[in-house]
Amino acid sequence: MELNRRTLIAGTAAAGIAATTLGGTAQAAPGSGRPVKELFGKLADGTKIYRWSLENGGTRLKVLSYGGIVQSLEIPDRHGRYKNVSLGFATIEDYVAKTPYFGALIGRYGNRIAKGRFDLDGKSYQLSVNDGVNSLHGGAKGFDKRPWDIEGFTSGSDVGLHLYYTSVDGEMGYPGTLKAKVTYTLTRHGDWRIDYEATTDKATVVNLTSHVYWNLAGEGSGSIYDHELKIAAARYTPVDSGLIPTGELAKVAGTPFDFRRTKTVGEDIREANQQLLYGKGIDHNWVLDKGITAKPAHVATLRDPSSGRTLRIATTEPGLQFYSGNFLDGTLVGPGGHIYRQGDALCLETQHFPNSPNQPAFPSTVLRPGETYRSSTVHSFDA
Ligand code: BGC
Repeated sequence: MELNRRTLIAGTAAAGIAATTLGGTAQAAPGSGRPVKELFGKLADGTKIYRWSLENGGTRLKVLSYGGIVQSLEIPDRHGRYKNVSLGFATIEDYVAKTPYFGALIGRYGNRIAKGRFDLDGKSYQLSVNDGVNSLHGGAKGFDKRPWDIEGFTSGSDVGLHLYYTSVDGEMGYPGTLKAKVTYTLTRHGDWRIDYEATTDKATVVNLTSHVYWNLAGEGSGSIYDHELKIAAARYTPVDSGLIPTGELAKVAGTPFDFRRTKTVGEDIREANQQLLYGKGIDHNWVLDKGITAKPAHVATLRDPSSGRTLRIATTEPGLQFYSGNFLDGTLVGPGGHIYRQGDALCLETQHFPNSPNQPAFPSTVLRPGETYRSSTVHSFDA
């Protein structure tokens, strides 16, 4: 299958046809150009927000300097027809006013920290609390709501963006000035790779991730319950009613959380299971069998049978948050003019486990001065 897509792209390029004309909108041929920057809008304080467009190997990406947001990610189906497969908005005003983290970079800490509190080196820290009594995705104004500095680059056959954000000491309650650099790369095969790096000047905790909402049939096309999913994980972290892990690494065997063999997202999602009641669906962290790896290793495959579009995820991280879009409630309208309802997309967030700063048995999220936080995730596409 992989061969089909690559053959199609290579074939059109060889025939002198820009592969991108297949989908309609005229853009640079794969790998042929540097990322292009345009003004997207302004924040209330006048800060200009830019949109960067890049393309390589048959994948088209649009990224905002607000939150490093992936506003659009287009890939072809088995007939070469492009669709934007990530939920988003058409305007900066919508992103500022009401986004549930559509496409954004998440920091300093992906997912929840219980009561927004943790102790480190004998000191207690109180974070911004924005999800009931807990801190979610970095607090009230996380990395998803900050302007990032972006530079476009080409390197060999790669095309990409470097994104920079410096979070000052004490921001959202976190200790230390954290300098974050995220690199989005589109490879000549159309893979989208994310490399995260961060350094600090005081001991702190960090857990960066990306919050793309996937619908491989196209954003606004309906539910993802027919998507097929496989996750290489024999355990997951059950949660309490506030979606904080209990600390147990429970077996998926015999539960709706068993995705070791491919099944549809919807197959067991209506089972009367206490964990599914807590999450209003799936909103859990999978303990990836491979653990932490130096290089990204394959952990999950998502496929839309109707279009053939397939996403494979490889990561260095030990965890994967699978969120089945439970809180989409028919109140948001996407860039294609369609309303988003519950289950219209899913997130697969590579990460360390939620609430690790309060769970000594979980892999550590502590970063100290002199160390560099590194995390990489590769999204490969096929049809
Ligand atoms: C969390 C959900 C949360 C969502 C916000 C996910 O990463 O696990 O609980 O509602 O982000 O859109």
